Amino acid sequence: MRAKTIAFINFKGGVGKTATVVNLGATIAKYHQKRVLIVDLDPQCNSSLWLLQPEAWRDHISDVSRSTYQIFEDHIVGTHRFDFEQAVLRGVPYSYGEDGGFSLLSHLDLLPASVEVLRLEDRLHQSKFALFFTYLQQALKPYQSSYDYIFLDCAPNLYTVTKNALFAADYCVVPYVPDYLSLSGFGILADEVEDFYERVSGSLTGRKRPKIAALIVSHYRKVGNVFEHAINELQIRTEQLRAEGKIHPRTALLEPYIRHDVKVAESTNEHLPAVLHAPASIGSQDYADLAINFLNHFEETL
Ligand SMILES: Nc1ncnc2c1ncn2[C@@H]1O[C@H](COP(=O)(O)OP(=O)(O)OP(=O)(O)O)[C@@H](O)[C@H]1O
Ligand SMILES: [Mg+2]
Repeated sequence: MRAKTIAFINFKGGVGKTATVVNLGATIAKYHQKRVLIVDLDPQCNSSLWLLQPEAWRDHISDVSRSTYQIFEDHIVGTHRFDFEQAVLRGVPYSYGEDGGFSLLSHLDLLPASVEVLRLEDRLHQSKFALFFTYLQQALKPYQSSYDYIFLDCAPNLYTVTKNALFAADYCVVPYVPDYLSLSGFGILADEVEDFYERVSGSLTGRKRPKIAALIVSHYRKVGNVFEHAINELQIRTEQLRAEGKIHPRTALLEPYIRHDVKVAESTNEHLPAVLHAPASIGSQDYADLAINFLNHFEETL
């Protein structure tokens, strides 16, 4: 079986891309025994730092060829230094004792990022390789059968590294915070993504054209009717985009909406997914319920 590769995208920042990748990834690895690879493509390195102690992360990427940066660097300078087996961290996060670390989630692997990813954009532009958007897909292809899901945690932009994520993906998921500004951005995002797939359709040989196939709401709060109103507007916009063929015909606004929960934010300090840090919290409960609907959507509905 080939992994389903999913890019979590939104050019709006702070909408829960990383929180969804880390917590949904950990939840389906823990409760559903799915083999999950998280690929950190953001120079902020947030999913790497959520799942690793800072010292462990720094130590690992002190050899920068053990980060996602090297996948792109190799193409820019013509080297072959990226080695998946060396770069991947298996069974993250770890618990540290006197004997070193041991895995807390045996089914969750991570390809970490390093801050050097920040330098890639200019260099990828200057290099002007015609197939600049295919590098990530080429690097991950040999490992497709080792995982059930590959989650791509993208930076809040649609630049070259994120375009590589779009090209590597089978589906895109849009994490979303329900407010007016996010809503106006969603239409633009769907247009841009569709435009990109149109331009590269000739390179998608033998693959189905990827599409935005789900939205996941984070930071949900039941205060007044602001969020309810924003969700209604989002549903209307989703219907329009569906009718225009700009998103997958079965695109779903997955439920439940992930409620704002301080335990989720707190779990970043502990370098643990919420499901390990605070399994009884409402955030963890929401992710557990979301996981069931997510798997149903990607394995039955689509
Ligand atoms: N359900 C939640 N409850 C409380 N805090 C949350 C929740 N989900 C995410 N956060 C916090 O909100 C912040 C933004 O979330 P996150 O980093 O996942 O967004 P992002 O879209 O990945 O951001 P960026 O665009 O910078 O990559 C983080 O500090 C995170 O800890
Ligand atoms: Mg992020």
